[in-house]
Amino acid sequence: MRDAYIVQSVRTPGCKQKRGLFNQTRPEELASFIMREAVERTPNLSPEDLDDVMLGCAFPEGEQGLNLGRIANQMAGFPEKVSGAVVNRFCASGLEAIALASARVQMGWSEVTMGAGCESMTFVPMGGNCPRPHPEFSKTNPENYISMGITAENVAQRYNVSREDQDKFAAASQAKAVAARDNGKFTEIIPTPAFKFVVQADGTYKKEQFIVEHDDGIRASTVEGLAKLRTVFSAVGSVTAANSSQTTDGAAATIIASKEKCDELGLTPIGRLVTYATVGCKSDEMGVGPRYAIPAALKQAGLTIDDIDIYEINEAFASQAIYCIKELDLEKYMEKINIHGGAIALGHPLGCTGAKLTATCLANLKEVNGRYGIVSMCIGGGMGAAAIFERL
Ligand SMILES: CC(C)(COP(=O)(O)OP(=O)(O)OC[C@H]1O[C@@H](n2cnc3c(N)ncnc32)[C@H](O)[C@@H]1OP(=O)(O)O)[C@@H](O)C(=O)NCCC(=O)NCCS
Repeated sequence: MRDAYIVQSVRTPGCKQKRGLFNQTRPEELASFIMREAVERTPNLSPEDLDDVMLGCAFPEGEQGLNLGRIANQMAGFPEKVSGAVVNRFCASGLEAIALASARVQMGWSEVTMGAGCESMTFVPMGGNCPRPHPEFSKTNPENYISMGITAENVAQRYNVSREDQDKFAAASQAKAVAARDNGKFTEIIPTPAFKFVVQADGTYKKEQFIVEHDDGIRASTVEGLAKLRTVFSAVGSVTAANSSQTTDGAAATIIASKEKCDELGLTPIGRLVTYATVGCKSDEMGVGPRYAIPAALKQAGLTIDDIDIYEINEAFASQAIYCIKELDLEKYMEKINIHGGAIALGHPLGCTGAKLTATCLANLKEVNGRYGIVSMCIGGGMGAAAIFERL
């Protein structure tokens, strides 16, 4: 197989669904902006060099429907020869897109590709606009369709993850994010244009642009304050709005090029995808996924947990993140896990998340001068995904 190098990886801020700063900015605008910026910020690369865009999206319908991988790349101003596709593996969609894009280059099917992700949970709600579960299968297998929040409650109950531990984990995620934002650590974020429709004196609306620089769900929190919140998915449970990931709008893009193309154009490799693993698990406790996917990826790469410098483990819910960290014997490496906070503070824009965390992982590896980083997440329906990146 050929070498496939990452030459760029960036993201937009993540903004809260409906009440956040991207609530009037369509997903095509977020995706096309970050795609264009990824190319423009890569020295010696032009849109003409790009072959294809794989874009992860968990609910590819409505405003982010049709084929957003192609539509957004054309909106970005890429030449018409640049093809595009949408990839869906729910919360791992963006990671899947990067894995597929890398594999195309490794196979010799592409020279320069993009793996991206985009989700506007404002425009298309989780579950989609018109979910239609199979009538018989959903009766016999309801666990395939249950709310993600209930799966988080199941993990908390079955594996004894206390409310207090979940709230501590959530407050820590927020504290890390506050510190990182205030100290300019989110170097992977590109300030992104957002839009709002402002009513005019004559009753018409004017589309006005403003710039968003930060994830807007970051909120300094205390464990005592979080303890007062009511549970949201089960009256007798432990999962609250604060110890769950935020529902979020955002986009991210990573560019991958063959070694030959890097040499020809003078592109500077910043990393590479070493390996990627996906594993199925029980649907009604889908949050345990990383506990199986991370060892699978490590085995494929011939590495151990001790070799990893940065972990980006998606905080779908504190309960499942705590469980996975414990089962993976990673409690001794807490200072390497989600060093600038996770989805509890920064948001989880479903199909974008894998692409977003890749950009974050590479930025954080650079910050700590590390070599290997893991991006991992649980996936609705009962799966885990994990990718290992090497910084070059
Ligand atoms: C949990 C969830 C339903 C909460 O949604 P929401 O109600 O829109 O969340 P909000 O941010 O409005 O928070 C709800 C309340 O909790 C409070 N709250 C949230 N985080 C807080 C914090 N860190 N500190 C203090 N209060 C907090 C809010 O202030 C709000 O209170 P208010 O109603 O008095 O204003 C939603 O975030 C969710 O579904 N998350 C999981 C997404 C998911 O399943 N993803 C896929 C995973 S596989």
